[in-house]
Amino acid sequence: MSRYPEFIALICVALAGNALAENHKKPAGHYGYGKPATAEEIAGWDIDVRPDGLGLPPGSGSVEDGEMLYETHCAVCHGSFGEGVGRYPVLAGGEDTLMEDRPEKTVGSYWPYVSTLWDYIYRAMPFTAPQSLTHDETYAISAYVLYLNDLVDDDFVMTQDNMASIELPNQPNFFGPDPRPDVQNTRCMKDCKDVSKITILSEPQPTEPEAEAVVEVASAAGAMAAAEQTYKSYCSVCHAQAIAGAPALEPADWESRIAQGKDVMVRHAIEGFQGDAGVMPPKGGFVQLSDDEVSAAVDYMLQQVQQP
Ligand code: HEC
Ligand code: HEC
Repeated sequence: MSRYPEFIALICVALAGNALAENHKKPAGHYGYGKPATAEEIAGWDIDVRPDGLGLPPGSGSVEDGEMLYETHCAVCHGSFGEGVGRYPVLAGGEDTLMEDRPEKTVGSYWPYVSTLWDYIYRAMPFTAPQSLTHDETYAISAYVLYLNDLVDDDFVMTQDNMASIELPNQPNFFGPDPRPDVQNTRCMKDCKDVSKITILSEPQPTEPEAEAVVEVASAAGAMAAAEQTYKSYCSVCHAQAIAGAPALEPADWESRIAQGKDVMVRHAIEGFQGDAGVMPPKGGFVQLSDDEVSAAVDYMLQQVQQP
C-alpha cells in the first residue's frame, strides 16, 4: 500500500497550521478590516430579556414610582389609564375580547410574558426617546402597566427576581413548537421510489422556441390568430385609423365592398386598387407577404366588420 495519502494529510495539517498562524498576526479580522467588539459594545446590544428572567439587569421599581414616571413619559400617547390616546396603542383592558370580531389586544388581554413588557419598554419606549429609561425606571413603569391591568396590587414592587413569576392571563394560549407537521408523508426508509423517476409537475417548463410557437399558432391554435397578427403588423397602420381613405373596420364602410364579393376584395388587396376613397397599395405595400397571408388578413378584417 502506498503511503501517499498520509503524506498529503501531513501537508494539509502543516498548511492549516500556517493559516492559523497567519490569522493570529491579523487582529483586524478575516478580511483585514474591522476590530473585535469590546465587552461594553456587546453589552449595549445584548439587552434582550427572556420569559424566565434571563437577561434582566439588577434593579427594582414600585407601582407607586411607576405612576409618576408613566404620567410623565407615557400618558401623553397611551392615556393615563392605558386606554390609548387617538390611535396610539391601548395598554390595558380588553379582557375576554380575543374571541370577538374586533379583539382588543393589550398587555393584559393578549401578551404572554411580562419579560416582553420590560424588554419592549426598555428597548423602544418612550417612542420619541427609546433607551432613555434607567433599569429601575423600567421596573417601576412595567409594574405600573401591570397595575393598570389589575394584575398586581398598588404596593407591588417589581424586581429582577420576581418578574418571571408574574403570569399573564393569556399565557396558556401560547404554545410551541407548532404541533402541525410540515409534511404529511412518512419518511421512506427502504424499497423507496427511484428518485430519478420522480417529476415535479409544478416546476416551470422551458418555453418553446419562438419559431415553433408561431407554427403552432398557425396550425393548431387557429389560422385566425395568425391572420390577426398579419392585420395588426401590416394593415392596421392604415385601416385601424382610416388613414388615407382606408376603410376602418366599421360595417358602414364595408357594405358596398362586401356586396362585390370576397374574391374581388382579396384580389384588390393583393394586386392593389384605386377606388373613390384612395389608394390601396398592393399588399398594403408589404410585398414580402404571401397571397395567402393577405387573403387571411382580409378574412380577419371581414370577421371583425361583421361581428355582431
Ligand atoms: C409619542 C408617543 C408615545 C409615547 C410617549 C410612548 N409610546 Fe408606547 N407606543 C407608541 C407607539 C406609536 C407604539 C406602537 C409602536 C409600533 O407598533 O411599532 C407604542 C407601543 C407601545 C407598547 C406596545 C403595545 C402593543 O400592544 O403592541 C407598549 C407596551 C408601550 N408602547 C409602552 C409605553 C410606555 C411604558 C411608555 C412610557 C415610558 C410609552 N409607551 C411612551 C407611542 C408612544
Ligand atoms: C397605406 C395604407 C393601407 C395599408 C397599409 C393597407 N390598406 Fe387596405 N386599403 C387602403 C385604402 C386607402 C383602401 C380603400 C381604397 C378605396 O376604396 O378607395 C383600402 C381598401 C382595402 C380593402 C377593400 C378592397 C375593396 O375591394 O373595397 C381591403 C380588403 C384591404 N384594403 C385589405 C388590406 C389588407 C389585408 C392590408 C394588409 C395586408 C391592407 N389593406 C393594408 C389602404 C391601405
